[in-house]
Amino acid sequence: MVDTPALGAGTRKGMEVRVLSPAPFDSTHGLRPLDSSLISLQSSMTSPLHFIYTLLLILIFLILLTFFYSLVRAISWVPMWSKDLVRVLNLAQIKPGQKFYDLGCGDGKMVLAAAKAGAQAEGFEISVLPYLIAKIRQLVSKEKIKIRFKDFWLVDLSQADVIFFFLIPRIYPKLKNKLSKELKPGTKVIAYLWPIPDWEPVQIDKVLNRPTIYLYQIK
Ligand SMILES: C[S@@+](CC[C@H](N)C(=O)[O-])C[C@H]1O[C@@H](n2cnc3c(N)ncnc32)[C@H](O)[C@@H]1O
Repeated sequence: MVDTPALGAGTRKGMEVRVLSPAPFDSTHGLRPLDSSLISLQSSMTSPLHFIYTLLLILIFLILLTFFYSLVRAISWVPMWSKDLVRVLNLAQIKPGQKFYDLGCGDGKMVLAAAKAGAQAEGFEISVLPYLIAKIRQLVSKEKIKIRFKDFWLVDLSQADVIFFFLIPRIYPKLKNKLSKELKPGTKVIAYLWPIPDWEPVQIDKVLNRPTIYLYQIK
């Protein structure tokens, strides 16, 4: 037996054809069932709860998307040890007003520490979750820091006095190229955990069971 939306009934090539009549007309609201279910769907979509669910889903999607994107562009978010902030500052020897950049600033704690040490500190981040945390850090802090949702490959580094990064050796050849082209002589480059191949560090900070930190200076 086959239901068809056509009006009327009969048999077609031995099959019984039963025909559905049009949906009954709702005289109270002047609506057919399809119309009213569309309206209830519409109203559930505009309810505050549905709105919050949709926002949350979009946020989770963006967090995952940018997590994998940062992995492709360099490395995903792995925060440095808070205990190591002071080690980086000791190597950087920041003078008041110097420009400090963190390439892939994560939750922004190194940027904030540099600002507290007197730098004009700026961090670049492309992963939504650490970026939001860094932004909250920026909002609750009294220090003036800049946290930008920006791919550091697209940033002009020529004004920097100190560059810090905790990135991955896979991208070092391209990064070395960018640093050599853009940084002015005297700029300090601080690499967390992995040394830059073929560059001679001016200082190495080694601590047992902690990541080694390397200081370079552009000639
Ligand atoms: C290993 S984490 C280090 C975070 C922070 N610097 C710290 O030391 O705690 C590297 C960060 O770089 C970010 N990142 C990777 N590629 C990037 C790019 N091209 N532009 C901006 N940020 C990037 C990642 O999202 C991640 O948060």
